[in-house]
Amino acid sequence: MNSTGGTAVNPPSDARTTDTPTADPSIDTSTVDTTITDTSTTDAGTEGDIGGVDRMVLLSVLSGSWLAQAGYAMAKLGVADLLDDGPRTADDLAAACGAHPEALHRMLRALAAVGLFEEPGPRTFGLTDASALLRSDAARSARLGAIMYGEEVFRSFAEIMHTARTGRPAFDKAYGMGFYEYLDADAEASRRFNAAMGGLRETPAVLAASHCLDGVRTLVDVGGGTGNLLADTLRAHPGMRGVLLELPEAVRQARGRLAGAGPGVLDRVELVEGSFFDQVPSGGDLYVLARCLHNWSDDEAVRILRTVRAAMEPGGRLVILEKLIPEGHGFSPAKLVDLLMLVMVTGRDRTEAEYRDLLDRSGFEMVASHPAPVPDPRAESAIEAAAA
Ligand SMILES: C[S@@+](CC[C@H](N)C(=O)[O-])C[C@H]1O[C@@H](n2cnc3c(N)ncnc32)[C@H](O)[C@@H]1O
Repeated sequence: MNSTGGTAVNPPSDARTTDTPTADPSIDTSTVDTTITDTSTTDAGTEGDIGGVDRMVLLSVLSGSWLAQAGYAMAKLGVADLLDDGPRTADDLAAACGAHPEALHRMLRALAAVGLFEEPGPRTFGLTDASALLRSDAARSARLGAIMYGEEVFRSFAEIMHTARTGRPAFDKAYGMGFYEYLDADAEASRRFNAAMGGLRETPAVLAASHCLDGVRTLVDVGGGTGNLLADTLRAHPGMRGVLLELPEAVRQARGRLAGAGPGVLDRVELVEGSFFDQVPSGGDLYVLARCLHNWSDDEAVRILRTVRAAMEPGGRLVILEKLIPEGHGFSPAKLVDLLMLVMVTGRDRTEAEYRDLLDRSGFEMVASHPAPVPDPRAESAIEAAAA
C-alpha cells in the first residue's frame, strides 16, 4: 500500500528482491533509500511493497516513545531551566544537571532534529519556543506534565495489551489500583498531577468568550481542581461567589491558590470536600464541569451529571468544558487525549453528539455549543445545558 498518492519512495534494493517484503518487520532506516520517484514509472506502489516514505511513517509512529522519553529526561533533569540564559554545550549542561555528557548530547541531538531544541553550534543546544514551555517558571509550564507523561503514563502504556484485551485501564494493571485511588494515596503524585492540570490553561478562553457567565451570582466548579478557573473568574467578576467541589488533596491546594488570587477572592469561595458521584452543593446558578467527564465512562459520566442535576434549582444551567472529537478522520489532539483516557482511566473523549446523548440521559437538554475561540489545539469547547 502506498500512502503518497502519485509518488512513492523506493525501498532498498534488497527489500525489492525479497520474496515476502512485508514479512520483515524491521524498520531499520539505515537500509532505506529515500529517493522519491514517480510511481508511474516504477513498481514501488504495488501491494506489500513498502517504500521509504511508508517506512518513515511507520518509524515515526512506532518510535514516538523514544523521543517522548528523551523529552521526559530533559524535563526531569531541568535542562530547559539551565538554558534560560542562552545556548550551552552538552558537557556544560551535563555537569550542571548531573547527567552523562555523551548521553545528554545524543538525546538533545535527536530532540533538536525534531525541533524541540535548537543546535546552533557543535554539541551546543538552546531552547526553541516549544522547549521553553518546559521551563519550571514558564507561563503554563509543561514541565510537570512532561514528567507525569514519562512516569505514570509511560508505565501504563507499557501495559497497553491489558487495555487492548480487556478494555480496562492499563494503569490499574501497572499500579494495582485506579488512577484517582493512586492520587489519593500519594500526596506528592497528587500535587504534581494537580499542578500539571493547572499548567494546561489558566482560564478556558471559551468560558470568557461565551455569554455563559452573564448574570451568574454563584458558580459551582464541580471537580474544579486547584481552583484556577474560580480564581480567574472571581477576580474578573467581583460580585460573583464560587463553590469548589473536589477531593481532599485538591481542596487543600486550592485554598492556597485562591488565597493568592487577589484580595477577597478566597472569602467569596466555599471549599467543599466530597465526591461528585455522591452529592454536589446546591444553590449555584451556573455549574461547571471542566475536563472531568472525559475521565469517566458513559455510565459514570451520567451518574455525575445526574448528581449535578439533582443539586440544581429551577433556572440553573450547566457548562461542560471539554475538547471535542470532530467528525471525520482528520487529525485532532482530542483523539490522542482519548487514547490517554483509554489507558489511564475509564474515560473517553467524545463528539458533540455524544455529549448531547449523555445530557439527554441525565435530565438535561443541550442549549448551545460554543467552539473553542482560540487556535490552541488543546483548547476546550463549551457545551451549555439546562434542566430538561
Ligand atoms: C482532569 S482534572 C480537571 C480539573 C479542573 N476542572 C481543570 O479543568 O483543570 C479532573 C478533576 O476531577 C477531580 N475528581 C476526580 N474524582 C472526583 C470525585 N469523585 N469527586 C470530585 N472530584 C473528583 C480530580 O481531583 C481532578 O481535579
